[in-house]
Amino acid sequence: MTCAVILYWSSTGNTKKVAYAIKDGLEAAGVNVSIIKTTEAEDIDYFDYDLVCVGCPSIQWHPPKQVTEFLLKKFDAYRKHGKIKTGAPKVPGKNALIFCTYSGPHTGLNEATPWASILLSSLSTSASQYWMNGMF
Ligand SMILES: Cc1cc2nc3c(=O)[nH]c(=O)nc-3n(C[C@H](O)[C@H](O)[C@H](O)COP(=O)(O)O)c2cc1C
Repeated sequence: MTCAVILYWSSTGNTKKVAYAIKDGLEAAGVNVSIIKTTEAEDIDYFDYDLVCVGCPSIQWHPPKQVTEFLLKKFDAYRKHGKIKTGAPKVPGKNALIFCTYSGPHTGLNEATPWASILLSSLSTSASQYWMNGMF
């Protein structure tokens, strides 16, 4: 069975709602899903999953500092174990999804899209494929 983990950070609950909606959708498709707050996910190994989903809001035009730090810490740990390769080659069968909520009505989507793509590329050792944004 395909295994997915959804890692999310949410301050006022919007991103959490989206995370659980993704969980419901994946489970309806027969995927085995774990859902964990980034603050409780330090020990997660991305390579245990076929799909890694990471979601957070746009805060002052960026991912929250806590999420950037969480991802950087993971990146450093994988680098130490030789899993970060030059050019970030895709790992067959491994996928990633970034989701972002925002509410900046004038440039929100334009802000959220670039950093969602950057977060996605930071996960590219596990073969990143998709991102999605949603407004609250
Ligand atoms: C302190 C703060 C800063 C925010 N900065 C932005 C921003 O720069 N751009 C934007 O589109 N939305 C911004 N928002 C709106 C949030 O991204 C939006 O409400 C999001 O859905 C909140 O997610 P959460 O409920 O999971 O915490 C900000 C919200 C807060 C509280």
